[in-house]
Amino acid sequence: MTLAIDTAQAGNKHNITGARQAYYDKISKYHLAPLWEVLKGLVTPEPKTQMQPALWKFPEIEKLMLEAGDVITAEEAERRVLVLENPGEPGKSRITNTLFAGIQLILPGEIADAHQHVASAIRFVLKGKGAYTAVEGEKAEMEHGDFIITANWAPHDHGNPGKEPVMWLDVLDMPTINHFQASFASHFDEKMQNVNHENGDSFERYATGVLPDGAPVHLNRSPVINYPYAKMRPILERLAAEGVEVERRDVPRIEIRRQRRRHRAATPRQRRRRVVQQMPRPTRPLPRQPHLARDLARRDDAARRDRAAHRAGRRRGGAGRRPALAAHPRLLRRARAAQAGLAVRAARHLARGGR
Ligand SMILES: [Fe+2]
Repeated sequence: MTLAIDTAQAGNKHNITGARQAYYDKISKYHLAPLWEVLKGLVTPEPKTQMQPALWKFPEIEKLMLEAGDVITAEEAERRVLVLENPGEPGKSRITNTLFAGIQLILPGEIADAHQHVASAIRFVLKGKGAYTAVEGEKAEMEHGDFIITANWAPHDHGNPGKEPVMWLDVLDMPTINHFQASFASHFDEKMQNVNHENGDSFERYATGVLPDGAPVHLNRSPVINYPYAKMRPILERLAAEGVEVERRDVPRIEIRRQRRRHRAATPRQRRRRVVQQMPRPTRPLPRQPHLARDLARRDDAARRDRAAHRAGRRRGGAGRRPALAAHPRLLRRARAAQAGLAVRAARHLARGGR
């Protein structure tokens, strides 16, 4: 209240600004801040993002990654990774608001120590072969095009006993985990995990479409750790050859989007009319509910007679007798609603298993 009197007495804009600033300084000592100064930025009329579209070209990245191989070893770096930083938020180590992405390089003879962390990772091999990612005691061999999953808290390490550099894209949900301030990690004394599964065991065991007898049922993640490109490629080729089938599967979704657009553009009256028109109508009699079938048939007959009379009238040179229902829009609406109601009752009856 004192402030209001002071500012009113101050009488000019400069003094009001100064008085407000003095007030803000005063409340800041109590860890308080005026919402009215920031409200517009907090509650925006439409979604806002700092992220910007960006493109990284692999030939350039590859050259720079190989240079990193000269600058630092995998052991020193723990993970030799160049982070793909969104240009909208440099220094935040994120490619989108919720995801981290980086390109990792491992040279022949190198290993990246075993560790585990809360963040989950997916890896897509961009170049080379002969390296591996070991996840929970199973080595997933890495070759161009392979896709590897490391679930959260799954122990993992990388190594390259091959003859050529191997690079892959790492994507982790680290920014999401960090947002909840739930990130932590653990390192193992051993640099590499003891292997206790055959290479490719998880794929052979769980990705065949047949769950083996005695398979663990308590896992809350996919037991498959890798999707080798050599096995995925034939599936992709088959899908490409059957492109029409894929498109057909997409049709319902496309149609739903089209209907939503039409619905948004329609007037309330058009919307009501469409809803009635789109109601399912049974096309066969319902033996256990003969009165429903009789009702529908009676209405259909009446409408047919009405249309025939109208056509006959026109043939005789007159304007024709207008269909009785069309002459009374309210009656027509009622009839349609009644028919829709019957259709709904019939659909419910069928859903309950009636015939
Ligand atoms: Fe890791």
